[in-house]
Amino acid sequence: MTGQPDQPPEPDPLEDPGGSGVAAVVVLAAGEGKRMRSARSKLLHEVGGHSLLSYAVTAATTLQPEHVVVVVGHLRDQVEAHLAEIAPHVTTVVQEEQRGTGHAVQVALAQLPHLRGEVVVTYADVPLLNGDTLADLVREHREQRAAVTVLTAQVSDPTGYGRVLRDRSGHVEAIVEHRDADADQRNITEINSGIYVFQAETLEAGLADLRPDNAQGELYLTDVLGSARRAGGVVGAHLIEDVWQTEGVNDRIQLSRLNAELNRRILEGWMRAGVTVVDPGSTWVHTSVDLGTDVTLLPGTALEGATSVASGAVIGPDTTLVDVEVGENATVTRTHASLAVIGPDTSVGPFAYLRPGTRLGAGGKIGTFVETKNAELGAGAKAPHLSYVGDAVIGDGANIGAGVIFANYDGVHKSTTRVGAFSFVGSNSVLTAPVVIADGSYVAAGSTITSDVQIGELAVSRGRQRNVSGWVARKRAGTKTARAAEAALHQRETVAQAPGGEQTAEQAPLQQQQAAPAPLEDQRRQDRTDGGPQA
Ligand code: UD1
Ligand code: CA
Repeated sequence: MTGQPDQPPEPDPLEDPGGSGVAAVVVLAAGEGKRMRSARSKLLHEVGGHSLLSYAVTAATTLQPEHVVVVVGHLRDQVEAHLAEIAPHVTTVVQEEQRGTGHAVQVALAQLPHLRGEVVVTYADVPLLNGDTLADLVREHREQRAAVTVLTAQVSDPTGYGRVLRDRSGHVEAIVEHRDADADQRNITEINSGIYVFQAETLEAGLADLRPDNAQGELYLTDVLGSARRAGGVVGAHLIEDVWQTEGVNDRIQLSRLNAELNRRILEGWMRAGVTVVDPGSTWVHTSVDLGTDVTLLPGTALEGATSVASGAVIGPDTTLVDVEVGENATVTRTHASLAVIGPDTSVGPFAYLRPGTRLGAGGKIGTFVETKNAELGAGAKAPHLSYVGDAVIGDGANIGAGVIFANYDGVHKSTTRVGAFSFVGSNSVLTAPVVIADGSYVAAGSTITSDVQIGELAVSRGRQRNVSGWVARKRAGTKTARAAEAALHQRETVAQAPGGEQTAEQAPLQQQQAAPAPLEDQRRQDRTDGGPQA
C-alpha cells in the first residue's frame, strides 16, 4: 500500500475522560461453525452457563467503546435474537456471504460512521478472553505507538493457525496462514489469536487493498498487518502467557475443554475467597453464581444461573441448584431445586425436589422424598418425609406428617391450601385444595380433608376401625398366619393359668404388649387420632 502516513496523530490515552477511548470493537460472528454439527448457532452454545457470544460481548463492552459491532451471518436470526436479549446495546451488521475475516471487517466498517482512533477486532467464539486482556492489548498498542497490534501466543501445536513472522529485530512483519505457509514458516510456534487493535486509518487503508490471492480465495484480515508494515507503520505483538484466552471453540470437544477450564478458574476464585470445594472435578459453578465465605460444596454439586449461597451453608453431595437462594448455615443434601428460596439454618433432603415458587423460612426442614412447588413454609415448619407440597402456604412451626399430599389440582384448576401456625397434619392425609387448616389445629392421620378446619379443632376424616374376632382362624385356616394366631392364643392361656406366672415383654404374645386393658381399647383407639412419625 502507498500513501499511508507513518502514524496518525492520536489522542493521549491518559487524557481520555472515560472508557478506553476505543472507537469500536468488531466481534466476528458470521462463520458457519460446521464442526459443532448443531442446528443451534455455535455461538449460542454455553460454557459456565452462558453463551460463547455473551463472553465476547462482555469483554468488548468492558472497553467502553463508542460502538460494539457484531458481524452476523450464518444462523443470524438466532444470533440476533440472542443478542437482543443479552446485549441490546450492540449493533449487528450482516455479512451475507462469508468471504473471509477481512471481508467481515469491511462489512462492519461500511455500516459505521467514519471512525477515528482505534478499532479492536475479536472473535465471538473465544470465551476465555477477558476485558483485562483487551485493555492490556490497547495499552501496549498505545505505548508502542503502533499502527496495529496483534495478540499472539506460543503453542505446542500451531497446526491450522496463522503464524507470526518477525524480522531479525523481533518486529512483526506479517502473518501467514497455515495453508499458505512454507515448511519453515510452519515450524513457527507463535500464532495469531485473531484478536487485534488497529488504528482506524491503518485498518481502512489495509482493507481497501485486500486481494483474495491465497489458498482459500478469501480476504484475509491478517494481510492488513503486512500492508501496515510496508507503509512504515509499527506492527506490535502482545504475547499472552495464558493461551486459553486465545482458544476458540470449533467443535464440542473444544467446548467441553473450555467449559472445564472456565469452571476450574471459577472454583479457584471461590476457593481463594473462602469456599471449600471438596472435589473440583465434579463440582460445576456457573459464572453468574454468588457464594459466601465458609460455604462447603460437596462432590457432585452443580450451582447454576442466579444461585446464591450464604455463609456457612453446606451443599451436596449430588445436588443441583438453578436460580436458588440459600440462607446462612442451611444444608442441602442430594437435592434438585430451581427458583426456590431456602431460609437460614434450614435443612433440605436427602432426596428432595424443590420446584419454582418454593420459599422455606428459617430453621425448617424438607426431608426425604418430598416435592414442593409454589409452597411457602414459615420459620421452623417441617415436611420431613414422603410428601407432595404444592400451592401451599404453611405457617411457622407447622408439622406436615409423613406421606401428606397437598392435592392442589382438580384437573382444571390449581388451588391453594393453607396450614396455620404450629398446626399438625397427621401422616398420610390428603388436603384437597382449596382448604384452610387454621392456626393451632390438628388433622388426624389418614384423613382426607375437603373442608376448612377451625382454630384449635381436630379434624378426623376416615373410616372407623372394626376388628372381626376369629376371622383368621375361619378364613385363613392352615396358613402360617393362622398357626401364629393359634400359637399366640395358646401361649396367652398357658401364661394366664400358670400360678404366679411372670413374663417378660419378650415372652408375651404381641397382642398383650398393648398397654391398655381390653375394655378401654375402643376408647383409646378413638382418642389416638394423630400419630405417625414426627420430626
Ligand atoms: C483466523 C486467522 C488466523 C488465526 C485464527 C485464530 C485470518 C485470515 N486468519 O483463521 O491467522 O490464527 O483465526 O483462530 O484471519 N468469520 C466471519 N466472516 C468470515 C470469515 C470468518 O465472521 O467471512 C469469523 C468466524 O465466524 C470466526 C472468525 O471470523 O469466528 C475466524 O474465522 P475462521 O475462518 O475460523 O479463521 P481461521 O481460518 O481460523
Ligand atoms: Ca477458527
